[in-house]
Amino acid sequence: MNDKTVENDKHGGRGYYTRLSHGGRAGTNVRGFVNVPVHRGSTMLYGSMAERTAASQDRFEQKPHYGTGGSATHWALENVVAEIEGGTRCQIVSTGLAAVTVPLLAYLKAGEHVLMPDSCYGPARSFCDNFLTRMGISTTYYDPTITGAAIAALFQPNTTVLYLESPGSHTFEVQDVPALSAVARGKGAKVLMDNTWGIHHFQPFKHGVDVSIQALTKYVVGHSDVLLGSITVNTREDWERVRATSVILGQYASPDDCWLALRGARTMGVRMERQEKSAVAVAAWLATRPEVKMVLHPALPGTPGHELWKRDFTGACSLFGVVFRDDIARESVHAMANALQLFGKGASWGGFESLALPTGGSVTRTAGSGQFGGEMMRLHVGLEDVDDLKADLEQGLAVLNARR
Ligand SMILES: Cc1ncc(COP(=O)(O)O)c(C=O)c1O
Repeated sequence: MNDKTVENDKHGGRGYYTRLSHGGRAGTNVRGFVNVPVHRGSTMLYGSMAERTAASQDRFEQKPHYGTGGSATHWALENVVAEIEGGTRCQIVSTGLAAVTVPLLAYLKAGEHVLMPDSCYGPARSFCDNFLTRMGISTTYYDPTITGAAIAALFQPNTTVLYLESPGSHTFEVQDVPALSAVARGKGAKVLMDNTWGIHHFQPFKHGVDVSIQALTKYVVGHSDVLLGSITVNTREDWERVRATSVILGQYASPDDCWLALRGARTMGVRMERQEKSAVAVAAWLATRPEVKMVLHPALPGTPGHELWKRDFTGACSLFGVVFRDDIARESVHAMANALQLFGKGASWGGFESLALPTGGSVTRTAGSGQFGGEMMRLHVGLEDVDDLKADLEQGLAVLNARR
C-alpha cells in the first residue's frame, strides 16, 4: 500500500470500504432485502400516455423508460462505480472494450485526430487502426512516459481527444496524468483515460481526466465469470454526450451480469488489499532471481514509474510484468508457463486466481516505447497463498533453466 489512504472526501466523508458496502443499495425496489434484485426487462408499462411522455423526456435520469435505459439493477451498479471513481454519473456497457470504444465515438468525428499512448490496450489500438481510420479519424501513438511539454508538440489543430492508460498494458508505464491533462485542457481537447489498473487507487477527476473507463470484468466482477464495462464522468455535459452515444449504439448489459458485478464490488476492497500485498511480495521475490532482468510493477521501489505512482496513486492492483534476461529464449519462457500449476495460462485479470501470460512477440508498439530487450511475461496474482505461488514460480523457473 502507498502511505496515502484512499480518498475519503465524498459522500459525507464515509470511508471507502463503507461506501463499497453501502453504495447503490438504497431504493424503493429493495423491499427489505439487503440486495437490489435482478430486474430483467425490455418493455416498460405506463399508467397513462402522460406518464410515458414524461418518462421519455427524462432519459438521462435513472428512471424506468425502456430496457436499454437500464433498471434498478443497472443503476445500483452505476452508482457504486461512480463512487469508486469519484465521479457523478456512470454508464454501464457490455464489455470493457465497449467502455473504450463508446467514448472515443462520443468525442471524435470525421476529420479529427486522437493521441493514443503506445502502451494502450491492444484492442483499443486495433479500434483506432481498423475502425476510426474508416471514419476519417487519424491517430498518433505517443510514448506513454512523454512530458507535458513534449505532448503539446503532438497536438494538431484537429486533435480533440487525448487518451491515457496508466499504467500501460503489458509494459506498465505510469503516465504524468495531471501534466498531460493540463495541456489537453489548454488546447480544448477531452481527456479519456482507461483507469482499470488504478480503480479506486487513482482518482481520475482529481487529476484532470474528463471520462474514466473501467473494464469491470477485472477486479469489480472479481471472479472471471462476467464481462462488463463502465464509463464514468463528472459533468452533466459529459454525461449527456456519453449516455446519448451509448444509447445510439445500442449498448446494453445483462442485469444478471450487473448483479454479479454488484456482488463483486462489495468484497473488492478486501480482495484487492490482499492481492496487492501478495503481488508486491511475489514481484519483490522475482526481482532477486538471476533469470529476471527487470520487474515492471510501479508499486515496487526502484521500478520505472514508481515515483509517479507514489505521487498519484493510493495503492496498486495485482497485475505486473517481468522482463527476462536477454539470453533467455521465448521457447524457455513458454516451457516455464507450461510448467506452472497454480498460474493459469490465459488473458484477462482481476479474478481470484493467478495467471501467467508470456507476451513476447504479441505486444505492438510503434512509438518506440516499452523496449526492454528480454522476453516478457505478465503475471496476475490471485488470492492463493504467497508461498505456494513462489514455489510454483520456482519450479517453473527450474524448467526454464533446464531448457536454456
Ligand atoms: C486495460 C484494459 N482495458 C480494457 C480491457 C477490456 O475489457 P473486456 O475484457 O471486458 O472487454 C482490458 C481487458 O483485458 C484491459 O486489460
